[in-house]
Amino acid sequence: MNPNKALWEKGDFTRIAATMRESGEALVQQLGVRQGVKVLDLGCGDGTTALPAAKLGADVVGVDIAANLVAAGNRRGQEMGLTNCRFQEGDASNLHELPDQSFDLVLSIFGAMFAPKPNDVAKEMVRVTRPGGRIVMGNWIPGDPTLVAQILKICSAYTPPPPEGFVSPMTWGIESHVIERFAGAGIAADKIRFGKETFTFNFPGSPLAFVNEFRKYYGPTMNAFEAAEKDGRAADLQKELKDLFAAQNKSPNDNVTSIPATFLRVTVEV
Ligand SMILES: C[S@@+](CC[C@H](N)C(=O)[O-])C[C@H]1O[C@@H](n2cnc3c(N)ncnc32)[C@H](O)[C@@H]1O
Repeated sequence: MNPNKALWEKGDFTRIAATMRESGEALVQQLGVRQGVKVLDLGCGDGTTALPAAKLGADVVGVDIAANLVAAGNRRGQEMGLTNCRFQEGDASNLHELPDQSFDLVLSIFGAMFAPKPNDVAKEMVRVTRPGGRIVMGNWIPGDPTLVAQILKICSAYTPPPPEGFVSPMTWGIESHVIERFAGAGIAADKIRFGKETFTFNFPGSPLAFVNEFRKYYGPTMNAFEAAEKDGRAADLQKELKDLFAAQNKSPNDNVTSIPATFLRVTVEV
């Protein structure tokens, strides 16, 4: 089994994605997506950004490595009555099923950053974008003090070290790495823009209940807890996450959680 696929099919990422809808919709609104624009959403999950793009009239293909998330995206699209959005299984490092120069916008919000072989990912994103089109990525930033970078940092301290040669997904949050990867795909540095933006997670429960959602349903956190349980350190991990979520919660109401997280937005003109 492909470990990248197994990680994201573990648990149920739709439970976390449900807390990301407002920011997904707002981001797509900013991109000026219009009727008839051809959009590829890579690592689309269950459609946090793909479905808002389809609602604006774009023709959307969502590609994700996790079969359960592809099924959930197709289900949500049908429930919304959208016929201009289809979700299919695929790997951002090898999009052989998609023709060259076939999309106006290739979008990947916290998606393609998790694929192995980042140089191949950059090449594939450029290959399927038409000349004059755009690639927009949202990538978490290593060392950033906000929620997701800190969850991944805390979890990695409880998880066995990755195999040799593994490239951390977080390196997509470092501008020099992004420039180097797209240079390998034939894109000059002056065609790439960077900006820091915020995604807000809104959960209808306490920060502790939100930690428990990550513990039960989010692959990277589930793996960290499995390893921590074997080492007798699960209570330490739970406490670190509980303190993090409580400290970052901006909601004045204890029974509602609202946590902003900073990410690197990368825009590439192809
Ligand atoms: C953090 S989730 C984000 C999902 C979605 N973009 C959203 O914002 O709700 C990461 C997604 O990337 C997908 N993913 C991970 N590796 C992938 C790969 N190699 N190719 C395609 N999708 C991948 C996962 O299955 C998961 O749906």
